[in-house]
Amino acid sequence: MQDLIERAARDLAGTRRAVALTGAGISIESGIPPFRGPGGLWEKIDPMEVAHIDAFRRDPRKVWDLLIKGMQTVLAAAVPNPAHRGLATLERLGRLQAVITQNVDGLHQQAGSQDVIEFHGTFAWQRCMTCERRCRSDELDLTEIPPRCECGGIFRPDCVFFGELIPPEHLVRAQQLAAECRVMLVVGTSATVHPAAMLPHLARGAGARVIEINPEPTPLTGTVSDYLIPGPAGPVVDALADAVAALQADSGGQA
Ligand code: OAD
Repeated sequence: MQDLIERAARDLAGTRRAVALTGAGISIESGIPPFRGPGGLWEKIDPMEVAHIDAFRRDPRKVWDLLIKGMQTVLAAAVPNPAHRGLATLERLGRLQAVITQNVDGLHQQAGSQDVIEFHGTFAWQRCMTCERRCRSDELDLTEIPPRCECGGIFRPDCVFFGELIPPEHLVRAQQLAAECRVMLVVGTSATVHPAAMLPHLARGAGARVIEINPEPTPLTGTVSDYLIPGPAGPVVDALADAVAALQADSGGQA
C-alpha cells in the first residue's frame, strides 16, 4: 500500500489542479455510520420512507423522529479525523483546489478545508418549508416535532433529500472542477448515487487521473479509476498528505 500512497503523492505533487470527491466512508472513523454496507443506515431504515422529499411532505414528524433527530445527535458528537485533516493539509500545501463532499456533517470545514462544496447540502442549518428562513440546527427548539418557524411553516434540514435537485450553483461548480482537474481523489464513497457518482467519469473523460481511497472496490474500480488505494481513509490520507509535504520540501516547494 505504501507504494500506492507514494504514487498518489507524486501524482498530486505534479499538479495544482486536483480535487477530492468524498462520501460517508471518510467520516466513519469520526463515528458517523455510512448509508450502505455493514452497519449502514439504509440497512435499518428504507431511504424511500425517510429520506425522500415526498416522504417528508407526507409525514414530516415521522422523518424527524426516524431520521433527522438521530442524525443530529450523531453529527453533534463527531469530530474530524486524520482524513479530513489530511485533505485540509493538501489544500494548504496548494495541492488540492477544493473538496466536493456528499456529506452533510461539516467535518471538512471543521478540519480546516476552506473550499468545500456541500453537494448534498448540510445538516448544520435548517430551512423553513414556507418562508425559506434559515436557522442554525443547534439553535432549533425541538420541544415540538416537527419544529416550526415563527411563520408556522415546518423546518427541514438544509440538505438534499432524494427526489430533489442538487443546488445548481453546486452542480455547475463541481462539474467544472471535475472537467478541469488533472487529479481527482475519490475518498470513501460507494459511487452509486447520481449525479455525484458521475463526477469521476467526467474527470476521467477529460483526461484526469482518478485515484480511489476505499477499503472496498466500487463500480469505479478498474474502469474509471486509475488505481485504488485499498485502506481506511484516516491513515491513508494522513500518510498521503505527509508524503506530498515531503516531496514538496525536497523540491524546495516548487511545483
Ligand atoms: P455509502 O454509504 O454508499 O458508501 C460508503 C463507502 O465508504 C463504501 O464504498 C465503503 O466501502 C467505504 N468505506 C467504509 N469504511 C471506510 C473507511 N474507513 N475509509 C474510507 N472508506 C470507507 O456512502 P456515499 O457514497 O457517501 O445521499 O453515499 C452517497 C449518498 O447516498 C449519500 O450522500 C446519501 C446516501 O443516500 C443522500 O442522502 C441524498
